[in-house]
Amino acid sequence: MRTNYCGLIDTQYLDQTITVCGWVHRRRDHGGVIFIDLRDREGLVQVVCDPDRPQMFEIAESIRNEFVLQIVGKVRRRPAGTENAGLTSGEIEVLCHEIEILNSSATPPFQLDDENLSETTRLTHRVIDLRRPQMQNNLMLRYRTAMAFRRYLDAQGFIDVETPMLTKSTPEGARDYLVPSRVHSGQFFALPQSPQLFKQLLMVAGYDRYYQITKCFRDEDLRADRQPEFTQIDLETSFLNEGEITGLVEEMVRTVFAEVLDVQLPAPFPRMSYAEAMSRFGSDKPDLRVTLELTDVTDAVKDVAFKVFSGPANSDNGRVAALRIPGGATLTRGEIDEYTRFVGIYGARGLAYIKVNDASQLNEAGLQSPIVKNLHEKALAEIVSRTGAASGDLIFFGADKAKVVNDALGALRSKIGHEKGFLSGAPWAPVWVVDFPMFEYDDEDKRWVACHHPFTSPKDDHLDRLSSDPGNCLAKAYDLALNGWEIGGGSVRIHRADVQEQVFAALGIDDEEAQAKFGFLLDALRFGAPPHGGLAFGLDRIVTLMAGAESIRDVIAFPKTQRAQCLLTDAPSGVDERQLRDLHIRLRQKVSTEVEVDKA
Ligand code: AMO
Ligand code: AMP
Repeated sequence: MRTNYCGLIDTQYLDQTITVCGWVHRRRDHGGVIFIDLRDREGLVQVVCDPDRPQMFEIAESIRNEFVLQIVGKVRRRPAGTENAGLTSGEIEVLCHEIEILNSSATPPFQLDDENLSETTRLTHRVIDLRRPQMQNNLMLRYRTAMAFRRYLDAQGFIDVETPMLTKSTPEGARDYLVPSRVHSGQFFALPQSPQLFKQLLMVAGYDRYYQITKCFRDEDLRADRQPEFTQIDLETSFLNEGEITGLVEEMVRTVFAEVLDVQLPAPFPRMSYAEAMSRFGSDKPDLRVTLELTDVTDAVKDVAFKVFSGPANSDNGRVAALRIPGGATLTRGEIDEYTRFVGIYGARGLAYIKVNDASQLNEAGLQSPIVKNLHEKALAEIVSRTGAASGDLIFFGADKAKVVNDALGALRSKIGHEKGFLSGAPWAPVWVVDFPMFEYDDEDKRWVACHHPFTSPKDDHLDRLSSDPGNCLAKAYDLALNGWEIGGGSVRIHRADVQEQVFAALGIDDEEAQAKFGFLLDALRFGAPPHGGLAFGLDRIVTLMAGAESIRDVIAFPKTQRAQCLLTDAPSGVDERQLRDLHIRLRQKVSTEVEVDKA
């Protein structure tokens, strides 16, 4: 039916007769001559229909956008001055000899080149949306990226082993998607939040190097970088230490970027401890393209009169931090108000600031701000010297629980950095964040929870802190951040049953609960588990960054909305009473009249 892809015909085919198939992207009538831009997966080609073949011309007159055509024609050079440098086929056109309409099309719900489509429109009519060249490029890029990961891992001796989709819930911090069992009344499978435990079992079973590009399911609040089902490049190795694992993995990322984008990432990737990342950037996934930094001033404002600062400075998990904006004294009142509203999203109750008119005068003359009179000279001197503030700068402050300050100033740092151009100029800034804490304290539940997951190994010399000082026990865990996104994370695992039991104890999981939830893992650890560790990358996120897309929904063929729905298929949706009965389920709420009638 076809000799060539539309988008790939170039001058090497001059004077040849070719057959192309595709969709009508655009049809233009030019005083008796009809131009058709015919589109297929590889791009567009311009087809010219002259009236001197009346039968063909009559068909050309009847076609509309998105009709499917087969065209036989001769490749010729476009007249000088009409070339299109943006297309592979931009120097040629196809003089049409024959047209066959393979299928007509209803008027599409939108023009493919409409730039102002709402996401609801795009996701409802996803098939049409996926025809757009941008989406075709994104999905092609995704495929090439996944293949590059596979090639690297295959070459390194990793083997792809599938793990179950119907499984027992693994506690990775999000809610599970549950699947009711028909055979076992009242019992449920969970869809995997990750293959974590299975890949560890494969290491115990001696497979040495495992990988899988696989779906994971998490019922969590969605954002631009999260989907309820997403894809991990998941891997695990035996007998490699933390440095060896991160070394292997970053070489993989460099190789993939070089192959797919022809981009050379730095070697080695910079590394920084979690503590340093939080202190300097307020984030465990800092965007190192942004040159602004936070400065800690907590200890310098413990005894100032300004309660907004001294309060958090003297409280257990409080923090007072400064963010210097070079030249920021020119920021307008309106801009500062907008930033104040912005940090409010992260729970900050205000955004104090000082305009540095003259850095050499540590008083209200040099430092312009209503808060200055309530900060003594020593505190002001520390603030100015630690931030390195110069005349003409502005310093923002966050004072609250450390988490609020870090979230708020961390986000403000990125926002101002990008809006006002405080950027290093590097297009790609990967960074390993290492030495994560094992646990963080859950204020609501009043207990320690695992920062990563409960199978993460503590640092060798921190084992005794598991019971004595869990808050200061560090883990052999590492995350890879790229341009402010967490693209991957992993750890060296616990391979000794006694250490695993201690970690469960620190988490308040008693023997009975541990046995019920993870008995299969604890048992496996007793049968010669090798030292092992690994990591998982978020493929959707990596491809989003590579594509320069705004949301991971733009690199997933059929994504869910922010409200976890599929607008195309209208899932989730109700099911009929019979299906529920088979599954031994009675709904707490009547969801449809059908159910009501049935019950009546
Ligand atoms: P983690 O939970 O950090 O680790 O997940 C690994 C990577 O998966 C991506 N990711 C997501 N992408 C899109 N939508 C989501 N909802 C979502 N959640 C996570 C991120 C993240 O870095 N079992 C461990 C890995 C390990 O220790 O080996 C795990 O799942 O890019
Ligand atoms: P107030 O004393 O409430 O008038 O606040 C004085 C300044 O401190 C204002 O600029 C507030 O935006 C700012 N502010 C109030 N609370 C905080 C906070 N928790 N962190 C940082 N700045 C604050």
